[in-house]
Order: sequence, then C-alpha cells, then structure tokens
Amino acid sequence: MITIKSKREFAKMAIAGATVAAVHEAVREAAAPGVSLMALEEISARIISERGCTSSFLGYHGTYPATLCLSPNDVIVHGIPSERRLEEGDILSVDAGAIFEGFHGDAAFTMPIGEVSPEAQRLIDVTEEALWAGVRQVRKGRHLGDIGASVAAIGEAGGYGVVEEYVGHGIGRQMHEEPQVPNYGKPGQGLRLRTGMALCIEPMFNVGSHHTSVDPDGWTVRTADGSLSAHWEHTVCLTPDGPHVFTAGEEPVPVEFEQSAAHR
Ligand code: MF3
Ligand code: CO
Repeated sequence: MITIKSKREFAKMAIAGATVAAVHEAVREAAAPGVSLMALEEISARIISERGCTSSFLGYHGTYPATLCLSPNDVIVHGIPSERRLEEGDILSVDAGAIFEGFHGDAAFTMPIGEVSPEAQRLIDVTEEALWAGVRQVRKGRHLGDIGASVAAIGEAGGYGVVEEYVGHGIGRQMHEEPQVPNYGKPGQGLRLRTGMALCIEPMFNVGSHHTSVDPDGWTVRTADGSLSAHWEHTVCLTPDGPHVFTAGEEPVPVEFEQSAAHR
C-alpha cells in the first residue's frame, strides 16, 4: 500500500530526517584513518537517543545489530559496524535511519578516508550527482520511471555498474513501504507521483560490474567482482508546499535549492 502523509506526519518525518542529518554530520567529522567503525556506531547511537528518536535499523528483521550500516570499499550496503579501523585511502558508505513519534527518516552518503584515488573520488561524486538528479524528479505528476531513468543515465555515462538488486523505497510509519524505487526505468512510466508521498532514492554504483554477493553474515552486500562501490540516499517528501529533502539538514531543503558537492 502506498501511504499518503499529512502535514502533521511530514512534520514528524522532518524531525526524524534532521536527526539522520545530524548523525551524518557527526560521523563525517569523526571518520578518519585509525578510527574504528564501532566508534562511529557509538556516536550515531548517542545522537539518535539525544534527539528523542530511536533507530530504524537496530533490530531490523529481528537481527540487525546496529544503528548504522557502515560499508567500506567493495561493500555496497548493509555493512555491520565492527572493530575494524579505517585506513587512509578507504571509502566508507554511511547509512542511518531514525524514527520520531513513529515516522522514519533514512539517508546515506559515501566519504573518502584521508587521501583517496582519483578513481574513488570520482565514484563518490558521480553517485552523489545521480542522487540529486533523482531527487529533482520527485514532483507532482512525474513518474517513478523518471527517477530511475535519470539515476541510471548518470551511472551509465560514468561507466559504472548500476546496482539493480537493491532499490529505493517508500517511507513513513515503516522504513520500507511501497513503492519500490529502482535505479532504472523508462521516463514517463510507472507510478505517478502525488502530494503526500515520501520516497527514498538511493543510487548504488560500482566501479566494476553491477553484480552483488552477500557475506555469510547474511547482511553485508559486496560487489561480486571486488570493485569499489558508493551509495547515496535521501528521504524526499512531496509535501503540500512542494518537494522537500528531509535528510539534508536541520530544516527540510526545498528541491529547488538542492546542493550537491559537485556544484558547491
Ligand atoms: N537504509 C537501508 C535502506 O535504505 C536499510 C538498512 S538495512 C538495516 O533500505 F538492516 F540496517 F536496517
Ligand atoms: Co533506504
């Protein structure tokens, strides 16, 4: 079922989204060579609880053990925080979700740890650019296919494997609601977007092929060929006042004023 959110419900999602943005900011600040993934997890857990929220991820499917997914290098998504320490030259995808009064926010970014290769930095930048291209398609009357097509076009132009086995999603009282939001599609096709919808758009691009494999832990998703992968995600809401990105900062960012690192 596709749920239509009221203004009151969007206000709760805005608080959940701001909490996710605060987690992102703190993790970005702390992540550096020598820092353990568990140290980042502790920062995230503290911020989520300080803001009166709970984690969308902790206990997900009864087994997910943390508030963050931390996915280094060839890990695409759903990496579990461990005592592993970050190393110069790594890239790290950071995914966080928070619940405020029953409503979720969910977002991810990928960052360089110290100096990274130009190839790694380009992967990060192109994936972020694709996220914002998808975000700009979230307007009344556009279609799901417009989002997927614009994301995929940027990935393909960059020469990347565009992951298809994992997709974006609707969001609200559940972290994962209908519809699925794939990173592929045909312009003008699929569900027509309307006010009240909230969507998570989340491109995952690989330097090599788009194929994925899951570790024996049942969570960690890697590139099948061991190549680097980046993941960016925002929660985008079609509010009565227009489309807003709820996970970009303290206030929901109107899509017209979107900023991406590529254009800052
Ligand atoms: N943020 C992820 C998504 O966008 C979900 C995290 S999986 C979990 O779908 F197990 F950590 F919850
Ligand atoms: Co998501």
